[in-house]
Amino acid sequence: MNPILSKDALKFLDLVSPEPDEILLEMESLAKERNFPTVGPRAGMAIELLTILSRATKAFEFGSGFGYSAYWIARGLPPGGSVVLTDRDPIELDLARNFLDRAGLADKAIFETGNASEIFDNYSEQFDLILFDHYNRDYLPDFRAVKNKLLPGGVLIADNAMSGLTVSFEGLLSFFDPDSEDPSLNENTLGTANYLLELKKDSSFKTFVIPLGDGLVVSVSV
Ligand SMILES: C[S@@+](CC[C@H](N)C(=O)[O-])C[C@H]1O[C@@H](n2cnc3c(N)ncnc32)[C@H](O)[C@@H]1O
Repeated sequence: MNPILSKDALKFLDLVSPEPDEILLEMESLAKERNFPTVGPRAGMAIELLTILSRATKAFEFGSGFGYSAYWIARGLPPGGSVVLTDRDPIELDLARNFLDRAGLADKAIFETGNASEIFDNYSEQFDLILFDHYNRDYLPDFRAVKNKLLPGGVLIADNAMSGLTVSFEGLLSFFDPDSEDPSLNENTLGTANYLLELKKDSSFKTFVIPLGDGLVVSVSV
């Protein structure tokens, strides 16, 4: 449940959005059954739109789970575009392969099992869209490692900007509020906070937070 937007705002967003297809509904019910933290449909739609708007053709995802967010990226890619899905857990990627195959999106997907940052290092080419949805504690070091392989005008999206299983909105608010005492934050909340702080100061990116799902940090390389 999005703790940021009002119930009415969420209802409105759902009412004006297209109906989900069968594969999406199946993925959403699997996420619910397993209590698995996908980006969710509202953030998913924003990710698809950002993929289209940025005219991305080469995307890379850190932490794909069973392919929910990759489904949205793949939908936004043009024919011939590709998204690299990564996860440490091969069972998740087997599920992702099956879903994307049945959605008719498998020709745009590359599946890589292992540590996302090590897999990323093995790719020599640059990307025009990167999604972070692994552990927030790794966002900042991984940002420093990937920023030079993002093409000019490329988009970096990070999930859990404002909430999540282990990310506290109150903690983040106190971290950035100059009138607040220094809060004690768990490692993932601190990971998000330090990532946002670095981007706030980094003039080579324009960054904005979209409060959909658990919050998307959207940064464009300028
Ligand atoms: C929040 S879930 C991903 C959800 C997915 N993006 C979606 O929206 O459906 C995080 C996933 O990242 C994986 N993960 C965490 N750290 C990772 C790393 N360093 N490299 C690869 N996968 C990682 C976990 O196994 C888990 O499946």
